[in-house]
Amino acid sequence: MIELSFEQIFGAKPQVVARAPGRVNLIGEHTDYNDGYVLPASIDRFVWFAGRRREDRRVRAFALDFHAQAEFSLDHLLRDEQLPWSNYLRGVLKFLEEDGHSLPGADVVYGGDAPREAGLSSSAAVEVGAAALWQGLAGLRLDPVYLAKLARRAENEFVGVPCGIMDQFVSALGKQDHALFLDCRDLTYHQVPLPREVKIVVCNSGVKRALAQSEYEVRLKQCRQAVAQLGTAGLAVKSLRDVDEEDLETAASTLTEVLLKRARHVVTENQRVREAARALEDGDLERFGELMNQSHESLRDDYEVSSRELDALVELALHQPGTLGARMTGAGFGGCTVNLVRESSAQAFAEAVGRDYQQMFGRRAEVYLCGTSNGALAG
Ligand code: GLA
Repeated sequence: MIELSFEQIFGAKPQVVARAPGRVNLIGEHTDYNDGYVLPASIDRFVWFAGRRREDRRVRAFALDFHAQAEFSLDHLLRDEQLPWSNYLRGVLKFLEEDGHSLPGADVVYGGDAPREAGLSSSAAVEVGAAALWQGLAGLRLDPVYLAKLARRAENEFVGVPCGIMDQFVSALGKQDHALFLDCRDLTYHQVPLPREVKIVVCNSGVKRALAQSEYEVRLKQCRQAVAQLGTAGLAVKSLRDVDEEDLETAASTLTEVLLKRARHVVTENQRVREAARALEDGDLERFGELMNQSHESLRDDYEVSSRELDALVELALHQPGTLGARMTGAGFGGCTVNLVRESSAQAFAEAVGRDYQQMFGRRAEVYLCGTSNGALAG
């Protein structure tokens, strides 16, 4: 209980408690920074915050996950290389201040059960949760879309990770029992109900995403290069979002083999997301599952961001009764797979995949039967 931890650490009761969920992306991978479409869901794994206003402009932030405290002033919000976990918080506060919101100093405790470095966006949850907490402490009522954008800005410009908007957006605006369909160009979105007869099952490969950041940056550059090369071929597009399969076929010879593969993933993935959202709305779960499987193949073969362990988890999943679809989720190179499994088979699925993975790799895959939750700033 976060309130209790707060009392133990700071000897008083917190005034505001907030929580922000992690996310799992059902489909639409590596499309957000290409102005494309995504379909994530906010899950029932959270980062919790408790806070109490101070009279001065100081912040004392205790991170339960690290058993460590950062202390700083709102007047000097600089990166701290010794306590890198605190930069997510500092970045959010810096940009809120810069935008003219005057914030109170505070004592804060935070921590959660969203696994870190597993590709379930615990860092987006820290950013969005911090925004939600200070919104409460300062008595502000800010537009949740603005706060999601601000949280992403903190990650891009302060922490220095060039991610897209998906994770912060769904951690802020997700809705229980729904997936969130988001157009990452204009940020229009709608909620798509998840049927009760299926479970979202997440399998954690246990492999930390060592290459994730450097390879992520490489992919980002390759997508920009593909857009530039398509431009020289007379295809005036702003991003890969503007390209369809026909365009790509016509202009294929202007792209190097690698860029063609990267572009093909993004172009086909955008189509799959739109079709998947429609399939979910129509209750066509088989089709939804097929699209998830195709998404994995495309990430593995064209975008080349999967790994041996993720591919194995997907294979194992596809051999289980009741599996509708399976794919890697998040940036790749480790982390988790997401599976859509019939409710009645979900428990057996979890046991079988956990056990078979252990036989193959000598360590157990943690398997979560995921519930969904409301985003931190959802109305
Ligand atoms: C990470 C990023 C997201 C998104 C995914 C890949 O989770 O934070 O913005 O790009 O990778 O789909």
